[in-house]
Amino acid sequence: MHVAMIGAGYVGLVSGACFADFGHEVCCVDKDPAKIEALNRGEIPIFEPGLAELVAKNVREGRLTFTTDLGQAVRSAESVFIAVGTPSRRGDGHADLSYVYQAARDIAAAIDGYTVIVTKSTVPVGTGDEVERIIREARPDADFAVVSNPEFLREGAAIADFKRPDRIVIGTDDERALSVMNDVYRPLYLNQSPVLAMSRRTAELTKYAANAFLATKITFINEIADLCEHVGANVQDVARGIGLDNRIGSKFLHAGPGYGGSCFPKDTLALIKTAQDHEAPIRLVETVAAVNSQRKRAMGRKVIAACGGSVRGKTIAVLGLTFKPNTDDMRDAPSIDVITALQDAGARVKAYDPEGMEAARSMLTDVHYTKDAYDCARGADALVLVTEWDTFRALDLRRLKAALAEPVVVDLRNVYRPDEMRRHGFTYVSIGRPS
Ligand SMILES: NC(=O)c1ccc[n+]([C@@H]2O[C@H](COP(=O)([O-])OP(=O)(O)OC[C@H]3O[C@@H](n4cnc5c(N)ncnc54)[C@H](O)[C@@H]3O)[C@@H](O)[C@H]2O)c1
Repeated sequence: MHVAMIGAGYVGLVSGACFADFGHEVCCVDKDPAKIEALNRGEIPIFEPGLAELVAKNVREGRLTFTTDLGQAVRSAESVFIAVGTPSRRGDGHADLSYVYQAARDIAAAIDGYTVIVTKSTVPVGTGDEVERIIREARPDADFAVVSNPEFLREGAAIADFKRPDRIVIGTDDERALSVMNDVYRPLYLNQSPVLAMSRRTAELTKYAANAFLATKITFINEIADLCEHVGANVQDVARGIGLDNRIGSKFLHAGPGYGGSCFPKDTLALIKTAQDHEAPIRLVETVAAVNSQRKRAMGRKVIAACGGSVRGKTIAVLGLTFKPNTDDMRDAPSIDVITALQDAGARVKAYDPEGMEAARSMLTDVHYTKDAYDCARGADALVLVTEWDTFRALDLRRLKAALAEPVVVDLRNVYRPDEMRRHGFTYVSIGRPS
């Protein structure tokens, strides 16, 4: 099968490489010439574990190519996946669909023979109808179907998620399109990944419902953590106590600085907007989004309190900048709010992240970047652990204490044990646990 993947970002590049690895002939298209040139030189523009090897293998074996020429890729494709960005629209929080609609117009001009156009981007209910209208208007003669196939992969574990998904959602009422989609995903049926066929609108909504539910679960445990701090309870024990109940499940019950990243913040907002437009507001998700956005900056205040109420003129070391480990993605990372709150209160900030510092440079100002955790801690009045990279899980506590000017550690991911930190002489503050 010939597949065209429009957009070679986190989702497009991973999906394209995995489809090629299934045996399909995949051409990844991006409008960013620098990205395509880099890919053609064998460089991977993002950090995702295992991706460089997977791309190199499939390029070598002739199944994966990269181009800026959308027309050429689409003409020979039986299925065309749209995997472009759908960020929050500036001002109102609706999903910005301009990239999706531009891709639809470009695809319309190029399709040749029966083509299945698949929205893999996360798009609001009804976007498939509009994509279909755009293509039909431009090409009344064309033979095509528009399908929704939302992507559920997680950055940092994207390849494993793509190859062994919990489920594959396919939204279409068109039997011919469903059969093409079944061919695209056939290698996964062998792994017995469930395929859920449903209407296009239902598939579009399923993706938002999944992200909103996960964001709610995180926010729930974060608020329980706040209560734990007031009543002297331990949120990790509460999480285990409820998570072992199969109806609840133990995942996404880790209290922390609030959710961030390229999906949850924008997708919860977009769902809120869609629901309001349809006069079926989802108050629960509205509250989740409001609580979460306040929480990230509140983490800055937590650091200030741990420093005795003021950070003016103090140096704060920040470990971990990306929104989670094993990615270089800085979009809506909690570290941005934490650092900005500290800077607003007069602190100097030093930071270290294994993969995120390049992206961070364009999003943060006046941050001094360092070469490792100990270099970051050197001379600082407090250290804040924001992202739980593995390399921060087993720091040499004696060395860390010697590097810091004041032995204050604020652990926003509950990586360390309070008793151990106390034994090493730290003033230690974590989330929802007695210090
Ligand atoms: N990142 C994730 O973990 C994740 C997971 C599931 C779903 N999604 C969804 O997938 C979509 C893509 O997300 P992403 O993180 O990969 O975005 P991204 O910003 O990393 O990549 C998007 C790419 O599309 C390219 N592009 C935009 N318009 C184009 C056009 N007309 N023609 C060709 N290329 C074009 C951009 O240059 C960019 O490289 C979004 O809707 C997102 O919500 C993302």
